[in-house]
Amino acid sequence: MQDQKPINSDFKNKDILSLSQFDPNSINLLFKKTQELESQSPEELSTILKNKIVTLLFSEPSTRTFGSFAVAVKRLGGQTLELTSPSENSFAKGETLEDTIRVLDNYSDLIVIRHPEIGSADIAAKNADAPVINAGDGAGEHPTQALLDLYTIYKKFQTLENLNGVIAGDIKNGRTVHSLLKGLSLFTGNKIYLLAPDELTLSQELVSKHAKNGLEIIVIKTEEEIPQDAHFWYWTRVQKERFSDQTQYEKVKNSFILTQDLLGQKGNSDLILMHPLPRVGEIEAEIDNDKRALYLTDQIQNGLYVRMALLTSIIGKS
Ligand code: NCD
Repeated sequence: MQDQKPINSDFKNKDILSLSQFDPNSINLLFKKTQELESQSPEELSTILKNKIVTLLFSEPSTRTFGSFAVAVKRLGGQTLELTSPSENSFAKGETLEDTIRVLDNYSDLIVIRHPEIGSADIAAKNADAPVINAGDGAGEHPTQALLDLYTIYKKFQTLENLNGVIAGDIKNGRTVHSLLKGLSLFTGNKIYLLAPDELTLSQELVSKHAKNGLEIIVIKTEEEIPQDAHFWYWTRVQKERFSDQTQYEKVKNSFILTQDLLGQKGNSDLILMHPLPRVGEIEAEIDNDKRALYLTDQIQNGLYVRMALLTSIIGKS
């Protein structure tokens, strides 16, 4: 639609491209809407997107984000146009993203896009009158994942202030982390310990930028430095597809693994364990049964409702 526009507590017809568009009030408003939808019956939900077509243009693999958007639209009574295989649409013939979006704009009340290039969602937004939601732009951002992550934290602690968190894995390339750090910096008193191999940590420049926005970031290099009073641990996958040299990936892929031993040493009883998924070996399977593990349960459920709340707020019947 246009350059990233602040939400300012009004989601109507806005693009969702980055957590930079958000402020605490807008996030609280979205969470209120999410809670409201959680309490509604399937019948009540099923008319909110009546006669709306939402295009899901996914040019990178996706299970949860694609699945939850598709189900969210359908639960709300809308329909989807699903283009999920770039080798089978006109990208394969060399069509530009701009042209593809201009065309899809004619069919769509809203476009959800996942694409391997940083900035692709912004390009889509500039070429569509319909609102655009960024479902992951390369190593850039993944705002709807961060919103569901924040909602999961909020539901447990009833606040997004004065929290200590550990974020581990691929901080450099992980778009969910980029958006989550921006989200956490909107609230006061948060402190994040970043655990990553040197090659995959956050640049000093970005650490200072977040600090300026009020988010304290402590870069740590070993599991021993994990604090025992953390509210959440957010583990992530090393992003194989962002490496041009696969031997480099092999070198760092197993740097930090969430094991039962580590949880026993550093975890407290109130802690929650999160992961955007997919995991590829960085969380021991035995941990799935721990009641603190929310990555296969609450985070998934919350993802569906937060996306329903976003769709409702942007194009729903008011
Ligand atoms: C993430 C993504 O695509 O960025 N997955 C997701 O949407 N939940 C995380 C990842 O792929 O590692």
